Amino acid sequence: MKTKERRDFNKEAAQWDANPGRVKLANDVADSIIREMAPTQDMDVLDFGCGTGLVTLRLQPLVRTITGADSSEGMLGVLEGKVASQGLTNVRTQHADFEKGGRVHGVFHLIVSSMTLHHVPDPAALFRQWQDLLVPGGRVCFADLDAEDGSFHGDNTGVFHLGFDRDRLKTLLQEAGFHDIRDATAATMTKDVEGKGKRAFPVFLITARK
Ligand SMILES: C[S@@+](CC[C@H](N)C(=O)[O-])C[C@H]1O[C@@H](n2cnc3c(N)ncnc32)[C@H](O)[C@@H]1O
Repeated sequence: MKTKERRDFNKEAAQWDANPGRVKLANDVADSIIREMAPTQDMDVLDFGCGTGLVTLRLQPLVRTITGADSSEGMLGVLEGKVASQGLTNVRTQHADFEKGGRVHGVFHLIVSSMTLHHVPDPAALFRQWQDLLVPGGRVCFADLDAEDGSFHGDNTGVFHLGFDRDRLKTLLQEAGFHDIRDATAATMTKDVEGKGKRAFPVFLITARK
C-alpha cells in the first residue's frame, strides 16, 4: 500500500505515553522480547523506532547499553528527558530517518523494534541495514501488526503497510541473510473501532539470527 504522506510523530510525542492501551502494548511486547531473547548484561542493543522509549527503558536494566534510534526529534526528546530524570548512564539516542537514507551508527548484539515497521515503506532495505549493524550471530526481534483491514489506526497517514503477512516478512529476512527465523504472538490489542465495535488486533514477534 502506498501512502504519500508521513505521520508527524513530533506532534504526538508529548502525549504519546498518555494512551494506556499503547503503554500496555509496549509492555506486552517488551515482556515477549525479554522472554524470547533473554537479554544479558554483555549486550549492546538497538531499539529501532524507539519513540518515547517505552520498550527501550524496559530492556535498559537488563543490558550493557541500549540505543534508541528514531526519525522524530520530538519522540527522542521525551526519551532523553526520562533518561536525564532517572540518571540512566547506559541509554543513548540517535536521530536517524531510515526513509531519508539516515543510518544508525554502532554495532549491536540485538536489534529490537516495536510497531515501527508498518511506517517503513521498504522493510527489505531496513533488514539489510540491520544485517550491517549486527555482530556475527547477533539477533533481531521485532513486533508489528498481523495483516489488518486499515481499522487499527483509523487515520492511516504514514501507514505504509496494513499489518504484515508473517511468512512474507520471514522470506524478506531470509533474502537479507538472516536464519533461524521464528514467529510468535507477542500480544493482542483490543480496540473500539468506529462502527465496528470491539476488535482484536494480534501483534506478532519475529526473531532471527545473523
Ligand atoms: C508507532 S511508533 C512506536 C514507538 C515505540 N516503539 C513504541 O512502541 O511506543 C513508530 C515510531 O517509529 C518512528 N519512525 C517512523 N518512521 C521511521 C523511519 N523511517 N526511521 C526511523 N524511525 C521511524 C516514529 O518516529 C515513531 O517514533
